[in-house]
Amino acid sequence: MSKLVAPSILAADFANLQRDIEMVNNSDADWFHIDIMDGVFVPNISFGMPVLKAISQHANKTIDVHLMIVDPDRYIQTFADLGADILTVHYEACTHLHRTIQAIKAAGMKAGVALNPHTPIAVLEDIIKDLDLVCIMSVNPGFGGQSFIENTYKKVQQLKNLIEFSEASTIIEIDGGVTNKNANKLIEAGADALVAGSYVFKSDNPTETIADLKALIN
Ligand code: DX5
Ligand code: ZN
Repeated sequence: MSKLVAPSILAADFANLQRDIEMVNNSDADWFHIDIMDGVFVPNISFGMPVLKAISQHANKTIDVHLMIVDPDRYIQTFADLGADILTVHYEACTHLHRTIQAIKAAGMKAGVALNPHTPIAVLEDIIKDLDLVCIMSVNPGFGGQSFIENTYKKVQQLKNLIEFSEASTIIEIDGGVTNKNANKLIEAGADALVAGSYVFKSDNPTETIADLKALIN
């Protein structure tokens, strides 16, 4: 499988959202990464259902939704109806993670779990085989444009080992502070999908930045 690039729409120009969605549609990007924040689990509020609905109407690639919200079980069916293909919840926000994962799959989506920078990989030992994706946060969730945390490489290797040992087929996604400076090292450590927000949307030519990143990691 080719290594994947997932531009994070959080860094797009919301006043020109359709333009930026079309840019991603026509680029070498693989997925749309959509960050939903509730101001409780993380100290920021991004956007909600009406905006995701508008994005879905234009996006023609996989929609990868990253929920940074407490009690995500309340909204699983809603996100399925809004067109999410992958739904990722935070380990730290789920008391009954196994039940949540089964509910995401029952709603017809791929199921992912995100880990905060302080959360060890080992907590996934007993659920890894059920996970389609694990998102390793390489910044503290809540904001775009933060600096990459170097300890991430070690976690990627540990997760890769766990996946191989368990004979799971889980995708490893990295989210936060991804640039051309850390992309290769992340792929070497075992990453499959790289989320990039500011690095793509704040560049002079986002289409070219996506193409260069895609070429760099493949
Ligand atoms: C952070 C979000 C990220 C963010 C990444 O809480 O989950 O997806 O948009 O943005 P950059 O690439 O700018 O760090
Ligand atoms: Zn994210």
